[in-house]
Amino acid sequence: MMSDIASLCKRRGFIFQTSDIYGGMNGFWDYGPLGVALKNNIRDLWWHRIVECPPLDKNGNPLRILGLDSSIIQHPLVWEASGHTSNFSDPMVDCRVTKIRYRADQLAVYLPIKSDGTDADGKAFAFFEEEDIQNIADKLKKCGRRKIEEFRRVLLTDLDTSQYIRVVAPDTTDVGTLTSPKAFNLMFETRVGAVVEEKSVAYLRPETAQGIFVNFKNVLDSVRPKIPFGIAQIGKAFRNEVTPRNFIFRSREFEQMELEWFCSGNEVAEWQEFWLDNRLCWWKDLGLDSARINIRRHSPEELAHYARNGHGTTDIEYKFPFSGNGFSELEGIAHRCDYDLAQHQKSSGVKQEYLDQASNERFIPHVIEPSSGLTRAVLAVLCNSYCKDKAHPSGFFLNIAPRIAPTKVAVLPLQSSVEIENVARSIFNELRGKYIVAYEDRQSIGKRYAKNDEIGTPYCVTVDFDSLKNMDVTVRDRNTMKQDRIGISHLGEYLRQLL
Ligand code: GAP
Repeated sequence: MMSDIASLCKRRGFIFQTSDIYGGMNGFWDYGPLGVALKNNIRDLWWHRIVECPPLDKNGNPLRILGLDSSIIQHPLVWEASGHTSNFSDPMVDCRVTKIRYRADQLAVYLPIKSDGTDADGKAFAFFEEEDIQNIADKLKKCGRRKIEEFRRVLLTDLDTSQYIRVVAPDTTDVGTLTSPKAFNLMFETRVGAVVEEKSVAYLRPETAQGIFVNFKNVLDSVRPKIPFGIAQIGKAFRNEVTPRNFIFRSREFEQMELEWFCSGNEVAEWQEFWLDNRLCWWKDLGLDSARINIRRHSPEELAHYARNGHGTTDIEYKFPFSGNGFSELEGIAHRCDYDLAQHQKSSGVKQEYLDQASNERFIPHVIEPSSGLTRAVLAVLCNSYCKDKAHPSGFFLNIAPRIAPTKVAVLPLQSSVEIENVARSIFNELRGKYIVAYEDRQSIGKRYAKNDEIGTPYCVTVDFDSLKNMDVTVRDRNTMKQDRIGISHLGEYLRQLL
């Protein structure tokens, strides 16, 4: 199914492999006319729900959330203070035979002896593709998920495989072709200015979050919000992923939608649950099927470097076609404690404290961070909306929620006639100020319906000879293919109700 979706995306102009005339580049994607429309609609909805019309607190008062758009390139010391220079790495192994590079923590799975055919004494380690991990884990109930987590932890903390008995790369049958894991920093390096020297090194941001933390003081001093409040940002992030994969799911250049919610340390648990509920509703409102959404609380072994006192992250996951029997991450709702602001205070020497006017107490706020991938949201919407149905002309349709569909209405003159085209044009002109509307007069009506099903246009308005006599049109529903005859004078109100 992923290959059907990827080929639809190329054919209809949602997503293209970047620089494809030169053979493409792994992990980089371009969003075509429909892809950018879908992505912008999701982005704008997030911004509206978070910044322009934020949710209400438990007393019914709107939360205070301020927007920000920080620079992609920040001072290199930002990444030292945040821990990215030293910690933001994946363990990477190379196969000496195939020359293929793998991310060790994704490939590794602990297998009991009989399952991988080795003759060692029950302690064999093998490397598998990421998708296989869940399948293998399911098959090897005895081994259990905990063992896999344990193994990952061992591998991450002790980057020496010499103690393991068997290591097999997925693309060879030989044992021991993999190098020991090496830490590989995921930040893209660049140079600033004309002079190439050590101090001109800078990084493309691997998350938008740090741009928010280093502006905390600026926002506090200029807008003077009271705690609790949030700062939100949407923008590009870059990670030199060892193994970009699954279409746009793990890319090297992608977009994030991040909120840093600053609150007192006593209230974090409550706010983390608040944001988890809120964000869950958001994903469902995008149209994602509830049965395909999962909540996963991180185990103690997985706690991030900023986690303290056992506070961790809860992920919202989605069952993508490549997730096997499991789920894959859409968003993390992390408790970052006061880690980032405290680090920036220490590193810059600039106080990052909030003064509580009521108690006259100064403190560094704690942070709850709902952090989601915009480009991952696009993929989830595409996968979720792909509905096979033999009755539809193309054998499928995209059931995209109307509020985020790239085109809301297509106006289609049925026959080539000046009178019909005049009516169709005037309907198009009337609607185009209100919705994103397409006017299409080429190809047979069957092909035009098929195309609009494929790109997820919720409604097609068809003008025919009867329209000239009766002043009415046909409105076709994408999902049901049901056609209603509607008076032209009522069309605006009819569509307004549906959309
Ligand atoms: N500031 C916290 C942070 O960046 P993360 O879990 O590394 O946390 C947050 O990333 C979200 O960004 C993920 O849940 C995912 O949706 C998205 N994301 C992360 N890496 C990605 C990649 N390589 N390609 C696409 N989306 C990615």
